Amino acid sequence: MFNPRGVAIIGASRKPGKIGHEILKNIIEYGYKGEIYPINPKADEILGKKVYKSILEVPGTVDLAIIVIPAKFVAEVLEECGKKGVKAVAVISSGFGEVGRHDMEEEIVEISKKYGMRLLGPNIFGLFYAPTQLNATFGPKDILQGNIAFITQSGALGIALMGWTILENIGLSAIVSVGNKADIDDDDLLEYFSKDEKTKIILIYMEGVKNGPRFIKIAKEVTKNKPIIVLKAGRSKRGAMAAASHTGSLAGSDTIYSAAFKQTGILRAMNVAEAFDWARAIAELPPPEGENTIIITNGGGVGVMATDACEDYNVKLMNLPEDLAQEFRKYMPPFGSVKNPIDLTGQASEKEFAGALKTALKDDRIHAVILLYCQTAITDPNSLADAIINVIKENGKTKPLVISMVGGKECAEAMKKLNLKGLPAYPIPERAVSSLGAYMKWARYIGKI
Ligand code: ACO
Repeated sequence: MFNPRGVAIIGASRKPGKIGHEILKNIIEYGYKGEIYPINPKADEILGKKVYKSILEVPGTVDLAIIVIPAKFVAEVLEECGKKGVKAVAVISSGFGEVGRHDMEEEIVEISKKYGMRLLGPNIFGLFYAPTQLNATFGPKDILQGNIAFITQSGALGIALMGWTILENIGLSAIVSVGNKADIDDDDLLEYFSKDEKTKIILIYMEGVKNGPRFIKIAKEVTKNKPIIVLKAGRSKRGAMAAASHTGSLAGSDTIYSAAFKQTGILRAMNVAEAFDWARAIAELPPPEGENTIIITNGGGVGVMATDACEDYNVKLMNLPEDLAQEFRKYMPPFGSVKNPIDLTGQASEKEFAGALKTALKDDRIHAVILLYCQTAITDPNSLADAIINVIKENGKTKPLVISMVGGKECAEAMKKLNLKGLPAYPIPERAVSSLGAYMKWARYIGKI
């Protein structure tokens, strides 16, 4: 499914704006290198590609078929896919279990099984896989490549988040819309991504799992080497009812899900921002080697807020030994503080920040760093971002470093620069601390710290 030699788009439409047209366009424009076969009985050529009347007429190998025709015709083309020797099908079409047509859903699963094909969906927006430059979705064209695999049961939310990740400069290794999960389920994808070199972390939006024991068994194995973040919707009674009519999922008891996540070391995020904040940090940073964390700041207030957040997210602030405190004193005026938060004071320039950061990175007793900046006229956020990037360039990304820059549009630009360099930066300190806390929690679960 992710490394197909050839892809057929069954229902590739001649009309721009129709789903079958947009998927074909995305596949071509994102640069997929394998063979592309549009299938449509009424067309000869679409977007410069030769069109086939049926998949059975395609001369080459088709490993993946994307199906974009009305639900009632899907079973028939699946038979053809099976006869052609297709390995996997992604059924975009809606109108199956989610609207009560469980019979039709069972039928397409049966046909797939008969031919040994795996089926993704139905009721999905497609899939994206960075290593093969395969964007078989009707979402945005300019997905940023990175190390986060994103599995989503919600289509519209998934597409929306694809756009949002571009805005937020978050890179993805894969996006898989699983929809009704008639065959391929989260656990199958966890297995795949646990071995995928490009993926460092797996993020799942789920409304329910089909096979609880299997999910737990696999998740337990996967979390040992890759963190999993889950955004589980349908927590409330009404939310569970909404999930049932959305993807036909049984949201189940939230207490049971929470217990299962805890037992398997899954990091449960409560909202989208939190999920991607954590994913960004974990995807970009090395895991912590210990618990000792320091805060470097130029603002007392943000330092205090971050300290509270450290309590909330179980991030352990160390007491600095005297020799280390003396080192940090070099980068602050006499009225600064080395009590951790290390307060360089409002007069700190990028040079003091860089000196303190270098000290923190070099000393093995420190395992993680939270760097906070409040915008002042003394230090330009952009110069500070450059200074941080330089320190990392010289010293390497040896330990987790999360950054928060609180201020105006210059801060937003500086943070964009940092994020594009793989240095996670957040507009408020709590988000930086929560991300580090999630990483620490996982490292504790696997016994690394
Ligand atoms: N083989 C190949 N092509 C065929 C076949 C066939 N057997 N039958 C029809 N076609 C062609 C059609 O001629 C048409 O091409 P054309 O536009 O050039 O004439 C094309 O395939 C599409 O067929 P239509 O009948 O026009 O179907 P339409 O595009 O209107 O709808 C769709 C198909 C999109 C699959 C629709 O039935 C559907 O399920 N929509 C919902 C999809 C969705 O939302 N999925 C969940 C996503 S997640 C989210 O919520 C965002």
